[in-house]
Amino acid sequence: MTRVVTLKIDDIDATGREDETVLEVAIEHGIQIPRLCALEGLTPVGACRLCLVEVAGSSKLLPACTTYVTEGMVVTTNSERLKKYRRMTIELLFTEGNHVCSVCVVNGRCELQNLAIRLGVDHMRIPYLYPKRIVDASHERFALDPNRCVLCTRCVRVCGEIEGAHTWDLMSRGIDSAVITDLNMPWGDSETCTACGKCVQVCPTGALFEKGMAVGEMTKRASFLATLTASREDGR
Ligand code: SF4
Ligand code: SF4
Ligand code: FES
Repeated sequence: MTRVVTLKIDDIDATGREDETVLEVAIEHGIQIPRLCALEGLTPVGACRLCLVEVAGSSKLLPACTTYVTEGMVVTTNSERLKKYRRMTIELLFTEGNHVCSVCVVNGRCELQNLAIRLGVDHMRIPYLYPKRIVDASHERFALDPNRCVLCTRCVRVCGEIEGAHTWDLMSRGIDSAVITDLNMPWGDSETCTACGKCVQVCPTGALFEKGMAVGEMTKRASFLATLTASREDGR
């Protein structure tokens, strides 16, 4: 039987089940922790490191999305140290890619852009790398601009866990990491893609988008996922 535990998050008395993460319990108590890779309905992977929190007794910062609550835990989600760390993470995401918001399909509706605004990131203190990653527009309906990809792996997980197609995967390491379709074939040649569009809807940035969308036109609808997952769990 799953136990209920009590803990403190930012001086708020909270309760949660021991199979819930710090992020889930924080959200239930109205505390918003910055995040990019976590999405309700998908298995958490702790990829973006934006949700790091301080836990009393631990010298390391811990990702709220993959850390489970325990009895008596004391969590801080918004210290000056965390703010600095998150700001640096956002700056790295911007400078490792080519994020020119003024010509982006999701300008004004982008989770990365929104986080930058929320965290006060209005200039970069590190040089841009200006990578020259090739856009894949081979799919009939969708396109991938890897220059705007933050490697959150939401596309990989929704395609595998929810659609069951397993079209997306992650390739290489470090600065060469990239999302690929079907053993690094052009997306349009994929034999597994069902063209359901789930990956496009959950992508937090303009990396995955519908063709024919003009600047600032694309709206993502990641909220379908929680409902779909709950329905499946209920066997409906
Ligand atoms: S993906 Fe987001 S942050 Fe990147 S260019 Fe587009 S709007 Fe800007
Ligand atoms: S394409 Fe989008 S969803 Fe996929 S890893 Fe990149 S940013 Fe995340
Ligand atoms: S949201 Fe927790 S590591 Fe990305």
